[in-house]
Amino acid sequence: LIENKVDALLAKMTLKEKIGQLVLYNGSWDVTGPPSDVGNKEKYEKLKNGEVGAMLNVTSVAGTRELQSKVVENSRLKIPLLFGYDVIHGFKTIFPIPLAESASWDLEAIKKSSSVAAKEATAAGINWAFGPMVDISRDARWGRIMEGAGEDPFFGAKVAVARINGFQGNDLSGKETLAACAKHFAAYGFAEGGRDYNTVNIGEYELHNTVLPPFKAAAEAGVASMMSAFNEIDGIPATGHKGLQRDILKDKWGWNGFIVSDWASIAEMIYHGYVKDRVDASQKAIVAGNDMDMEGRAYEKGLEQLVKDGKVDEKLIDDAAKRILRVKFQLGLFDDPYKYCDENREKNEIYTKENLEASRDVAKKSIVLLKNNNSILPLKKNVKSIAVIGALADDKDTPIGSWRAMATENSAVSLLEGIKSAVGKDVKISHAKGVAVGVGQRSFVRELKVNREDLAGIPEAVQAAKGAEVVILALGEEAFQSGEGRSQASIELTMPQQKLFEAVAKVNKNIVVVLMNGRPLVLTSIIEKSSAILETWHLGSESGNAIADVLFGDYNPSGKLPVSFPRSVGQVPLYYNAKNTGRPSNADGMVFWSHYTDEKNDALFSFGHGLSYTSFEYKNMAISKQSFSSGDKITVSVEVKNTGKVSGKEVVQFYIRDLIGSITRPVKELKGFEMIELEPGKSKTVSFEINEEVIQFYTVNKKWEAEPGEFKIFVGGSSKTALEKDFSFK
Ligand code: IFM
Repeated sequence: LIENKVDALLAKMTLKEKIGQLVLYNGSWDVTGPPSDVGNKEKYEKLKNGEVGAMLNVTSVAGTRELQSKVVENSRLKIPLLFGYDVIHGFKTIFPIPLAESASWDLEAIKKSSSVAAKEATAAGINWAFGPMVDISRDARWGRIMEGAGEDPFFGAKVAVARINGFQGNDLSGKETLAACAKHFAAYGFAEGGRDYNTVNIGEYELHNTVLPPFKAAAEAGVASMMSAFNEIDGIPATGHKGLQRDILKDKWGWNGFIVSDWASIAEMIYHGYVKDRVDASQKAIVAGNDMDMEGRAYEKGLEQLVKDGKVDEKLIDDAAKRILRVKFQLGLFDDPYKYCDENREKNEIYTKENLEASRDVAKKSIVLLKNNNSILPLKKNVKSIAVIGALADDKDTPIGSWRAMATENSAVSLLEGIKSAVGKDVKISHAKGVAVGVGQRSFVRELKVNREDLAGIPEAVQAAKGAEVVILALGEEAFQSGEGRSQASIELTMPQQKLFEAVAKVNKNIVVVLMNGRPLVLTSIIEKSSAILETWHLGSESGNAIADVLFGDYNPSGKLPVSFPRSVGQVPLYYNAKNTGRPSNADGMVFWSHYTDEKNDALFSFGHGLSYTSFEYKNMAISKQSFSSGDKITVSVEVKNTGKVSGKEVVQFYIRDLIGSITRPVKELKGFEMIELEPGKSKTVSFEINEEVIQFYTVNKKWEAEPGEFKIFVGGSSKTALEKDFSFK
């Protein structure tokens, strides 16, 4: 039915009107890319003429209503606008940054977070989220690693689908759901040196086996749109990459959503040295399958003439316009262009108590206990005295993180506030800032008001630490040290923070480090002398409360790292699912093997790692048979026992290794996981199925298939798994 409506509408449209649907304008000065040269007056004229298909960064009912009415009341065909916005981890109620949320490994919680974000965004007039980011990244220097699900394609695909389902619901027609956008197609997370927007050089097999699986899963989940990436891949800018967009995504996968460029990325092909001007850029992009131009002023300049000159087939414009119209029909915008313009909802459904509670719930599940010597955690609520040290401890802004949508500045519950409201009045809490943190670059202006080399606050911190029963030391990064355009060459704690740690460690041995950060950090300098390390990322609006929930044992930590934490920045890119190389060990004692002479090869904390206040034992691993063939399957099972004193959750992880392949295969690949909850002393048998699909990969034949051969299966509570068995596929 929708297809008939799309076709009927398209038949009425002039070429100019069709091209209009392919234009996306920024609607405010709150830019998320370099500002373009289109003035507001010109934008209004174009809106009235039906020459704009969508707006971004218009974030209120009043704003969206005003612009929608310009189009619907003035243009010939009254085709409603899409309103897009970067709803990345919440709208006004802020949830944990996506990397943090992924650490929950709780797909229902992740889905819930996106659905609350969708509910709030739609209450403010928005009908299209520029999320989820499904880019795999193995480079902690890349600022946008905070926005994804980490380093693993299987896990990334699962998280992508959870987020899309949260945003879109069962179909797009509801009032509280919106169109999602999987981004950035493709390989944006593989920027050389972790420098944002940089060149990407990965091979075809890496592309198919590592980068594309989350996009494929997104396409299969019916994501309404995808965004192309800024980067080039092996010499071709992603925005003009026909092989990727038209051939794989649209033709091979048969996906019928639309592709939007990233901010000006069509025109930026000029700077890539791939096209000579915006007209040339338009031709390359539309032929490649990019449907919508975000703030690039390329399509509006180039496409009409290109069609008239016979250089672009009008059918390509028809296809692009149809894809966009289809989503507008699916959203129900033609039935009611103002369906998201509900002042009542805007007033009552945003930043509610219920939404904040949901944020706290996901936040506590996102925390990862990295280290816990002598079970120093959880702390007793009647502990005599706590010294809460660090500038981040009473920072109400950092936990909101980067990509904070409509969050109010300084609106998060700080760590200090969270601790104070968790413990009794008799507990003596002292606080000292110590040193400033990093350099968070908010937008175009670098904020250097604070002297970040200043060590003058350290003596006061030492004084506070001296008499305290326990020190809670907040260390890490400010909100805007990660995110778009915020790559870093160094991922260690800053020198002043290291000095603060050293000074405090000299006077108090009971240091619980609470990390706040948007990327994996190198923690080598604090690993020995800290008693516990709690990775709390940037947890959102309820950060302090969620951290206190874990610190004092109201919630037993269940998070697991979705990304490896290196020992040294020189190891980056670092990931558990690496290849073996031809020289994996030094059995002969010589130097000629794949290693560093000054650092270990493995991570300080590996993918999948995360402790609990209880302990789990893995035993009795069994497989139903030794080999299987096409159409058949093997079941692998393992018994997991809670051997500690409190009830807890464990993410049981299952990995395989394909020993010999037509292309070399990773030493381990995650293929399944299940979160279980066990009371002390209780056990559960967890089973995973291995069928042909599980062992498939993109082979030398350039297709997804399973190759006969020998495999290993591993199960355990992290990628450093506990148990293993062999099987074969015949
Ligand atoms: O959605 C973002 C994208 O991820 C990066 N560039 C700007 C876009 C719109 O804000």
